[in-house]
Amino acid sequence: MTARIIDGRAIAATHRERIAAEVTRMREAGLRPPGLAVVLVGHNPASEVYVRNKRTACAQAGIDSHSYDLPANTPQTDLLALIERLNRDRAIDGILVQLPLPPHIDPATMIEAIDPSKDVDGFHPYNVGRLAVRLPRLRPCTPWGVIQLLRAIDEPFKGRSACVIGASNIVGRPMTLELLLAGATVTVCHRFTRDSAALVREADVVIAAAGKPGLVEGDWIKRGATVIDVGINRLEDGSLIGDVDFEAASERADWITPVPGGVGPMTVAMLLDNTLKARAFGENEPSR
Ligand code: GUN
Repeated sequence: MTARIIDGRAIAATHRERIAAEVTRMREAGLRPPGLAVVLVGHNPASEVYVRNKRTACAQAGIDSHSYDLPANTPQTDLLALIERLNRDRAIDGILVQLPLPPHIDPATMIEAIDPSKDVDGFHPYNVGRLAVRLPRLRPCTPWGVIQLLRAIDEPFKGRSACVIGASNIVGRPMTLELLLAGATVTVCHRFTRDSAALVREADVVIAAAGKPGLVEGDWIKRGATVIDVGINRLEDGSLIGDVDFEAASERADWITPVPGGVGPMTVAMLLDNTLKARAFGENEPSR
């Protein structure tokens, strides 16, 4: 068997077109378009690429992106003051603080400082909590993007087993909550798991989000499974590879995402979607 490819670029493009059309309608109706503040601290090369992609995608969708590029030695109090100013700014619907932050800044404190109604990353404990109790509002972009990819291939979820590899706050944990909400039976593997291979072998849907190149070997994949590779690992030669041995896994899977061109474009599309939602939620917020 050679797996069918889940084309994240094409699926993301349909979402981006929908969002752009909605923003055009807003502008034509004389309404303020959505505004997204994108905050980057320091010069992490991967973060610079991601942030550039997010800003370009905003521009293409007609969303106003406001750039805040701060030096690596920015004091935590300055970043906090910026977040508080953006929370009060009526032209800003969404606030994104790109992670990782320099080591002297505590990411949890920054995330909790963001007004949950402007938390377009969906990382605030309020938004994660809402997802946990089946009342999702602003949903973490990458897991929500993965759900869209799975919907695009008509994944039924109910009665299916899913294995999430990785338990990060950004992907693994909210991914688990999304799959549970969708009706799947979910297992999570993490650094203390004794035999990840055995758990992955049982799974109808495999989500690899460990950030370890080639961690998931081809023979871990159950025949006919769906494999979603969230990993984006840059090798020394500059090429990008995922967490899954793509060639070997493709021999056994029914569906698989490529890296690049799988999950990455969906993360950006869902950020735009969240910004549009945050604009709508803002109508009911006293601060806007
Ligand atoms: N770093 C890696 N992924 C993300 C993301 O989705 N949002 C933010 N803010 N930082 C990240």
